[in-house]
Amino acid sequence: MSGSGSAADCESAARSGARREGPAAARREPGARRTEEAPPAARRRVFSGIQPSGVLHLGNYLGAVKHWAARQDDRENFICVVDLHAITVRQDPEALRAGTRELTAMLFACGIDPERTTLFVQSHVRAHAEAAWILGCATPIGWLERMTQFKAKSERRGGRERIGVGLFTYPVLQAADILLYDADEVPVGEDQKQHVELARDIAGRFNHIYGETFVLPEAVIPTAGARVMALDDPTVKMSKSETAGRGHAVRLTDTDDEIRRSLKRAVTDSGREIEFSDDPARAGVNNLLLIYQAITDRSEGQVLADFAGARGYGDLKMGVAEAVIEVVAPIRRRYEELMAAPEELDRLLAIGAERARKVAEPKAAEIRRLVGFA
Ligand code: TYM
Repeated sequence: MSGSGSAADCESAARSGARREGPAAARREPGARRTEEAPPAARRRVFSGIQPSGVLHLGNYLGAVKHWAARQDDRENFICVVDLHAITVRQDPEALRAGTRELTAMLFACGIDPERTTLFVQSHVRAHAEAAWILGCATPIGWLERMTQFKAKSERRGGRERIGVGLFTYPVLQAADILLYDADEVPVGEDQKQHVELARDIAGRFNHIYGETFVLPEAVIPTAGARVMALDDPTVKMSKSETAGRGHAVRLTDTDDEIRRSLKRAVTDSGREIEFSDDPARAGVNNLLLIYQAITDRSEGQVLADFAGARGYGDLKMGVAEAVIEVVAPIRRRYEELMAAPEELDRLLAIGAERARKVAEPKAAEIRRLVGFA
């Protein structure tokens, strides 16, 4: 990238962060400016997003959502359901509308607490689209051409003559999401790291041109669960676009029996040893162990001890299935309750949008002024 920093150097990222103005800053203690030293964790702001296309799966949960829910206490949290991003590939409008509501209910069911987290829908806050335009004008085409997700998606979808421009400029919109909220931390799975680093580079470039405006965000990637692989092919990541087919993913809406069946069918190898391994031939077993480790929050040693008495991969698969069910079944039940109360969901979404606008709108106004809009 442009060399303005990486996700690893979080200390310098926080220190070089720009000012934060608007109502959120007003809630901070007087003098809590962010230019000289890293803010204590208590004041760090978190932003992350998720697409409302396809059903939430175990990869989304272990790579991102679980950590959003676990870290709400001592941070200021914004979680965004990114419907503008979803239309970068063709969507059925009614399915998108329904999917946005379903995903929101699912996020609450996973433990996102509306008291501690502002959960909102991207299209409800117009500043995102506007900021994306302005930031796009400050983003070199070459930076976007290096995005691996764009390269992979555009190849899969038939190349340059068939895909929309939105798929190319997608990471600029993601940068707008993050930068509008002056986020310090962006908790994501491994696949989004490059996009967060780009957001940081765009912030650095904008700050260089117009003066200190944006905080430089830092990607926060979990140690276990950052890249959950597909059950039917452990060489590719578990992906929302494949969740319609059986056997690829555990969906958070799956029944206990569906979870058992998907795990029973998971691709492994012809060996017997249950151990963590980087060997591509053993990726299936490694993935099952990582899923178990992430869902139970155990160390590698504890995981191996749990399976020391296993008679083979059958026992491993059933052990993983039961651990997954223990977490997913209560989520599914809460989700069903929330889906049965649509007015409550509407109410929570309206509150989320209102709170998000209070932060994003003043920031957008500042950007408008800086670039010279009359
Ligand atoms: P999305 O919707 O593809 O995924 C949501 C989150 O789930 C993580 N994830 C995974 N983690 C581990 N293993 C997997 N197999 C797996 N698949 C997905 C993703 O890393 C992500 O954290 N562009 C983003 C959404 C976005 C966003 C943002 C994120 C839009 N604006 C601003 C952060 C900040 C996306 O498509 O995520």
